[in-house]
Amino acid sequence: MRKLYVIGIGAGDPGQVTLQAVEAMRQVEVFFVIGKGEAKRELVDVRTAILDAQLDRPYRIVPIADPPRDRTPADYLEVVEDWHDRRSALLESAFAEVDGVGGILVWGDPSLYDSTLRMIERVLARGVARFDYEVIPGITSAQALAARHRIVLHGIGEPLRITTGRRLREEGLAAENALVMLDGDCSFTAITDEDVHIWWGAYLGMPDETLIEGPLPAVRDEIVRRRAELRDRKGWIMDIYLLRRGG
Ligand SMILES: C[S@@+](CC[C@H](N)C(=O)[O-])C[C@H]1O[C@@H](n2cnc3c(N)ncnc32)[C@H](O)[C@@H]1O
Repeated sequence: MRKLYVIGIGAGDPGQVTLQAVEAMRQVEVFFVIGKGEAKRELVDVRTAILDAQLDRPYRIVPIADPPRDRTPADYLEVVEDWHDRRSALLESAFAEVDGVGGILVWGDPSLYDSTLRMIERVLARGVARFDYEVIPGITSAQALAARHRIVLHGIGEPLRITTGRRLREEGLAAENALVMLDGDCSFTAITDEDVHIWWGAYLGMPDETLIEGPLPAVRDEIVRRRAELRDRKGWIMDIYLLRRGG
């Protein structure tokens, strides 16, 4: 492979694909799609719908199976490290089959809780594959959440902490403004402070988009109930929220 484009495609709404992303997609001969199993089929479908809408020529897709990993390990970093090794080996062999320009469509933006760029660095560090790569930024789920709730993510001049559900549970609300992603366990239920406001969003930009907002003690149970209903109905869920002290 001569060149690889890593293209941020926005967080679910095909309207978030930028002109720069479309321009890059038009250079690509082969798209690598990392599969996440049947439950995430819809997320792969969003990518193919974007390609069908933007490209008026045939394109090749090379699926790459995502190796399984332990989701509740005792040593989180060690398990992720091993998983990244197995993933980069799969990427390396997929890249080896392409002569020209490849592309990877990344959900949201590659800079936020996404391992694609780390994988590419790993592949190059192994020294077998050689290629140039370029990153095209995309709209993140953080921006989508802010836009749908029509909010600024922090108070005037305040910092914003971006964290995971797991860290929120371990560390508590360690900031005035915390944006929480990758939370499969409703970790906001562990926050007992009375003066916290929450802006929550699920499936942002997608047909099942759901928004709830209010003082955390008042809406906490409603979010837990709604989230469980949605996840049971679809088999998977993606949600993100902002917590603000004194909100
Ligand atoms: C692996 S991270 C990928 C983040 C992505 N790179 C981004 O820029 O938004 C997945 C997490 O992003 C958030 N997320 C991504 N898309 C979302 C959406 N459409 N609606 C709600 N949350 C979303 C959720 O917190 C989910 O657990």
